[in-house]
Amino acid sequence: MGTIDQEYLQASIEQFLSEANCLKTYAHCIAVGDYAYKLAEQFMADPHKAQIAGYLHDISAVYPDDQRVEIANKMGIALYKEEIVLPMIIHQRMSKEIAISQFNINDSEILSAIECHTTLKGNYSILDLVVFIADKIKWDQDGEPPYITGLMAALDHSLESAAYYYIDYLLHHGIQVTHPWLNEAYVKLKQQLEPA
Ligand SMILES: [Fe+2]
Ligand SMILES: [Fe+2]
Repeated sequence: MGTIDQEYLQASIEQFLSEANCLKTYAHCIAVGDYAYKLAEQFMADPHKAQIAGYLHDISAVYPDDQRVEIANKMGIALYKEEIVLPMIIHQRMSKEIAISQFNINDSEILSAIECHTTLKGNYSILDLVVFIADKIKWDQDGEPPYITGLMAALDHSLESAAYYYIDYLLHHGIQVTHPWLNEAYVKLKQQLEPA
C-alpha cells in the first residue's frame, strides 16, 4: 500500500469531524487507532493498517441515526432488514464509503476492517479482529465497559477468544437486533475455538 502520512490523516479527520461538531468521536477514533496499532504489532506485519482503520472507523458520526437509511441508499449500500430496524449499525458501512470518497483509502484490508468494526463478519481477517477488539476496549462511552475484565482475560488467549467473548456477552445482555454478520462471526469463532 502507498504510504499514508499519519499526521496529515489525523488533521484531515479532525477537521472533517469538528465541522460536524463531532470532536468526541475524533478523540475516540484516535484512541481506537492508536490502540489497534499496539495490538496489531503483536499479530501483524503492518500495524499501520490497523491504525488507519481505527482512525477512520467512526467517521460517519457526521450523519445522525435518523438520516442513515436515506444516506446509505444514496451511497449505494444495499441494506439488511436488521439495519433498517436499527440504523445505528449502518454506520460501519457508511464509514467505509466516506473513507473511500473523502480520504482516498483504497486498501481493501483497511476498508474491510472499517466496514465490520461493529459486528465483525464471518470471513474476518486478523486486521478485522484487531480493529473490532480495539473499538470494544477503547469504547465511545464514559467509564469502563462492563465486559472489560472478561474481554482482557480472553485477549490473553487470542484475538479470536476476545472477539468470541464480546459477542457472547452481547448476545446474553439484551442485544436489540442481531446483525447477520455478527451471527456469522459468532458461528465461525465458535468453530475456530471449539473444533469438533
Ligand atoms: Fe462504530
Ligand atoms: Fe467506535
